[in-house]
Amino acid sequence: MIRLEGVTRRYSSRAGDRVALDNVDLEIGRGEIFGVVGRSGAGKSTLIRTINRLETPDGGRVIVDGEDITALDAKGLLKARRRIGMIFQHFNLLNSKTIEANVAFPLMLEGRPKAEITARVAELLAQLGLAEHAKKYPRQLSGGQKQRVGIARALACGPQVLLCDEATSALDPETTEDILNLLDQLNRELGLTIVMITHQMEVVRRVCDRVAVLKDGKVVETGRTADVFLNPAHPVTQAMLAEDDDGFDAAMAPVGGQMARLTFRGASTYEPELSRIARETGVDYSILSGRISRIRGEPCGQLLVVFTGGDATVAMARLTENGVAVEAIQKEAR
Ligand SMILES: Nc1ncnc2c1ncn2[C@@H]1O[C@H](COP(=O)(O)OP(=O)(O)OP(=O)(O)O)[C@@H](O)[C@H]1O
Ligand SMILES: [Mg+2]
Repeated sequence: MIRLEGVTRRYSSRAGDRVALDNVDLEIGRGEIFGVVGRSGAGKSTLIRTINRLETPDGGRVIVDGEDITALDAKGLLKARRRIGMIFQHFNLLNSKTIEANVAFPLMLEGRPKAEITARVAELLAQLGLAEHAKKYPRQLSGGQKQRVGIARALACGPQVLLCDEATSALDPETTEDILNLLDQLNRELGLTIVMITHQMEVVRRVCDRVAVLKDGKVVETGRTADVFLNPAHPVTQAMLAEDDDGFDAAMAPVGGQMARLTFRGASTYEPELSRIARETGVDYSILSGRISRIRGEPCGQLLVVFTGGDATVAMARLTENGVAVEAIQKEAR
């Protein structure tokens, strides 16, 4: 659905040149929810804004649904943007207009007939649970409700792609969950391709099929969310995930023995493999840290354990045989 080919964006200022995007290649499938994470200044916003050309790359091409966005003239761009909706961290609503007028705005710009606009706005407000707020103004709504209005407005022209730049970053956890459920539902029901820029790892864990990690304008890692999050390869990804977790430092564990990281995926996550194999092999284990959760719906768990007594090597081999990924950690625990 979306393809970035060698996309580069430089900014010049008196302080010198800065490469915000450095030769980025990225492919996002039709109907996917794709996450882009990275530290502040990594180039996330610049990247997402090249997709609807709020930002024009200095080099490379951006193809959306077969059309080269980078080559369009002003008229072609207006047309293309109908297929690409966008929502923002601070909602960007028109504060002097009512909710229904905000949602109607893109349709008015297109010069659609009044009756059609009225019907479409009513439909969108009902679909997003905003009907009772139609005559209110943005300041009368909560953050979550305002983001729903932002989504309604972004959907007004029936886009195929929805770009979200930190769309949940200004919301509390419960409201974030509500908006993520809504985006998940729109993805399934409308087949909407969604690109989510976020610094919240939890957002990616919850809804993204795949994720790319951006650092200094370069994609340093990309893959299915569960693969990347359970086995982060790049130091930036590892660090961002560690901060999101409890930041546990294995070296500080006051125990001796064989340390190992166990990764459970799918149905095996709920099986009592560890205790069964410990019993059968006569090893003991202590859990130093761990997390059982879901990544984009797939149950998975990761435990850091120390085996003591018995034969840890045999226990680890048995776990591997039973579908648990085992990574022995050589550093002797103190
Ligand atoms: N209009 C601009 N003029 C000059 N430099 C810019 C401009 N926009 C972005 N930059 C620079 O480009 C780099 C990438 O910025 P960008 O906004 O894409 O980062 P980001 O990953 O979205 O960060 P954040 O998480 O803080 O939103 C930064 O170093 C930023 O200072
Ligand atoms: Mg940004």
